[in-house]
Amino acid sequence: MKTRAAPPGADAGAKYSGDGGDRQTTPASISGSMQDELHEPWWIGPVEVPSRVVLAPMAGVSVQAFRRQGRRFGAGLVCSEMVSCAGIEHRNERTLGYLRVAADEHPLAIQIFGSEPRVMADAARMVVAAGADIVDINFGCPVRKVTKTGAGATLLDDPGRACCIVEAVANAVSVPVSVKMRRGLEDGSRSCLEVGPRLVEAGAGVLTLHPRSARQMYTGVADHSLTAELVDRVDVPVVASGDITSRARARAVLASTGASAVMVGRAAQGNPWALAEILGDAPAEPTREEVVAELVLFMRETVRELGERRASGFLKKFYGWYLGRGRFPKPLKQELVVLPTTPEVEDRLFAEVPGARFVLQRLEAEQPLVDEVLLDDMPISIYGGG
Ligand SMILES: Cc1cc2nc3c(=O)[nH]c(=O)nc-3n(C[C@H](O)[C@H](O)[C@H](O)COP(=O)(O)O)c2cc1C
Repeated sequence: MKTRAAPPGADAGAKYSGDGGDRQTTPASISGSMQDELHEPWWIGPVEVPSRVVLAPMAGVSVQAFRRQGRRFGAGLVCSEMVSCAGIEHRNERTLGYLRVAADEHPLAIQIFGSEPRVMADAARMVVAAGADIVDINFGCPVRKVTKTGAGATLLDDPGRACCIVEAVANAVSVPVSVKMRRGLEDGSRSCLEVGPRLVEAGAGVLTLHPRSARQMYTGVADHSLTAELVDRVDVPVVASGDITSRARARAVLASTGASAVMVGRAAQGNPWALAEILGDAPAEPTREEVVAELVLFMRETVRELGERRASGFLKKFYGWYLGRGRFPKPLKQELVVLPTTPEVEDRLFAEVPGARFVLQRLEAEQPLVDEVLLDDMPISIYGGG
């Protein structure tokens, strides 16, 4: 049995398991407000990850603006949404749009999915050339459009092929390779515990487990007792994904599983403050000015990334995510989603909260500039990729 991390409030010097043994931190190396297990750096091979909070890959959500925002709010590692290796192979312009990396995103994982080892290896080389620090492989997507091609979660039922994919990718690139998976295909499945160690043998340097079955999609709860069992079975870092919505939950999952980090997905949609709250850096609830300023900054960045036409459609779901949670009355969101352009949405938001302009000015002054390439069409986007 490996040692578990210290429970909340216990000695922060307790050893983490699952770090591949390459880093152990004592309180002496952590200073001031950083005196907290979630702020401890950890390592994925040569890649230093500055906090124990990872921003989840989410199809239709994890655009560059989302990832940059996540880093700003304390995520130690961010990940692209899943990118089709077939799309990369065919140099599909939409797919290649996923591979745009900004300087302030690092460390960054780019996630690929597919079922052919050679095609996955070629795609891995491309994503590393694009700037990925880690190549992440999707063995978790439960969506039929993906599983029917033999990719995503279905590979948990074909460990031989899954291992060939990991081996081919690990041999193709010099950066670490990670795998993100579900517990298995069917409810109650424990496949991840059999497959996980084999994937590590094949070359995976990190495993992320979302311990729901593919059949469950996003229903029920993530069973992190499986995460603890996986940690015991492998000697690489394990990241715990699923239902991490608060600091208390993050600390409890780290302590009870011995995972090296937690991954935050839905809780961060339109809500980067969740990351800061989990890290203990800020209260969970921002002011109305902060909400509007972050939303407008996110909109501007997304327009720069996708172009106005695509961004205005893409952004609609974010209005509800940002303005919901009891922050603004519902009719405001309903007004925004029918406005045809993002400048009109901005005007309406500033009319509602004039003070947000000043917060936005400060945020924009602090943001480093990135390249200004515009892409023509929305990249392939499949909701619910893992
Ligand atoms: C809209 C959406 C899209 C997702 N897309 C991906 C994806 O592209 N790749 C992946 O590995 N997981 C994907 N996931 C799964 C998340 O990364 C995460 O494992 C899951 O949502 C559980 O974490 P949470 O409870 O913090 O949301 C997606 C989840 C959602 C809600």
